Amino acid sequence: MDKISSVPKHVAIIMDGNGRWAVEKGLKRIEGHRAGVKVVKEIVEASVEVGVKYLTLYAFSTENWKRSTEEVSFLLNLFVDAIQNYIPELKENSIKLNFIGDFSPLPMPLRKTMEYAIKETESGSKLVLTIAINYGGRHEIVEACKKICKSGEDINETNFLKYLYTFNLPDPDLLIRTSGEMRISNFLLFQIAYTELYFTKTLWPDFTKEEFFKILEDFSKRERRFGGV
Ligand code: IPE
Ligand code: IPE
Ligand code: MG
Repeated sequence: MDKISSVPKHVAIIMDGNGRWAVEKGLKRIEGHRAGVKVVKEIVEASVEVGVKYLTLYAFSTENWKRSTEEVSFLLNLFVDAIQNYIPELKENSIKLNFIGDFSPLPMPLRKTMEYAIKETESGSKLVLTIAINYGGRHEIVEACKKICKSGEDINETNFLKYLYTFNLPDPDLLIRTSGEMRISNFLLFQIAYTELYFTKTLWPDFTKEEFFKILEDFSKRERRFGGV
């Protein structure tokens, strides 16, 4: 890999296409999710390697409950196993784990695993890995409105940001979506106002470090103006 001239500080990814990947191979959709976990690890490693400081991954949306009970419970159990198994490696590599979303409807074993993983990895300083579970951008914004009203604080952009789940994260510099869909699907609506977008047709289980680096190269050539000239 050549040196990338300008590495994004915060990369967000909509990891999409697991189901289609599996069906194309004559497998059940859930096998696509299983394959997707391996890719998460590869991209986390790649992020550390290249110096990305924040990586935020969309794992389960507030709308994903519409799927079959079999798929939903498979996913929720997969999160428990994947997080649990990943903790030693995260600690070894100084990666701090963080979660965003509405955790109240999640099963207790998952919530406990998330809490435990946060505590175990809290001193990580190389990368903040944020996983969005039961995350919805609209829900986040409405909840933030309720909280700021209750606080009695002045309502302005600076204060409002403190009530989003992402209060401790910078805005994403780059948002990648796999699987060819060109939509946001309720991800980080408030935070991506000036984020660079990149859509690839690759299905998430086929996504690689090499493609990730190519996308970072592309990002480094973009001119960000933020409304200026
Ligand atoms: C993304 O893959 C993972 C989740 C939404 C949990 P999908 O399961 O949406 O895969 P497709 O889009 O149906 O192929
Ligand atoms: C977005 O993917 C959510 C996640 C990747 C977790 P979906 O597959 O749920 O999005 P739509 O339904 O295609 O918009
Ligand atoms: Mg999908």
